[in-house]
Amino acid sequence: MLLGVNIDHIATLRNARGGVEPDVIKAAQIAEENGATSITTHLREDRRHIKDEDVYALINTLKTRLNLEMAMADDIQEIALDIKPYSICLVPERRQEVTTEGGLDVAGQLEKVTEFIKPLLDAGIIVSLFIDPDIKQVEASAKTGAQFIEMHTGSYAECFGYKEEEIEFQKLKKAAELAQKLGLKVNAGHGLNYENVHRMHEIKGLCELNIGHSIISRAVFTGLSEAVCKMKDLIK
Ligand code: PXP
Repeated sequence: MLLGVNIDHIATLRNARGGVEPDVIKAAQIAEENGATSITTHLREDRRHIKDEDVYALINTLKTRLNLEMAMADDIQEIALDIKPYSICLVPERRQEVTTEGGLDVAGQLEKVTEFIKPLLDAGIIVSLFIDPDIKQVEASAKTGAQFIEMHTGSYAECFGYKEEEIEFQKLKKAAELAQKLGLKVNAGHGLNYENVHRMHEIKGLCELNIGHSIISRAVFTGLSEAVCKMKDLIK
């Protein structure tokens, strides 16, 4: 199974000060050097973390693949067509949400989704649809022309360790099986962490996991000792 690392929260931290630190390009390079098979980033309408110049810099420096998460917005589609990432992942977006809260309603807007992704597919960009593990959404996704779905693992992650875990996990398993039967390739992501990720191996044929928040959070602690020691050394 491949690992796509989402670097959005490197940019969140950078933007808190408005400067250049920490550098998202460097973060992407470190992720790649340590086995990330792609770098994922979400260019949001409000540009709250990743900015246009970041995606342009990433496309020129990445050694692996850029997976651009985006909503159905014309201006972002224009950027995607300009930079031509390896893949895009279509996500729903609400301005007030803290993070992507649910999957894209493909079944409820089949025509709109199909039309929106057509120019991207025509440009040779792989298209993935971020959906809840719901039979209706999987069936609709298979009609759009997209090659991939990314299953939203947020509910599974939230229920992990509770009695509802199995129900949420089985939804993922069944959705993946159906998607593959319908000719779709399957990725997964959202809320996966160092405790709950191991069950993804129980889902046959998953291609790639896209993981951000838990990796960046862990990096703070695995890197903090060195950072404090180095500063202490400099000022002693
Ligand atoms: N996949 C998609 C489509 C997402 O929107 C996100 C969050 O930006 C992720 C994966 C990664 O989620 P997390 O940061 O919880 O690992």
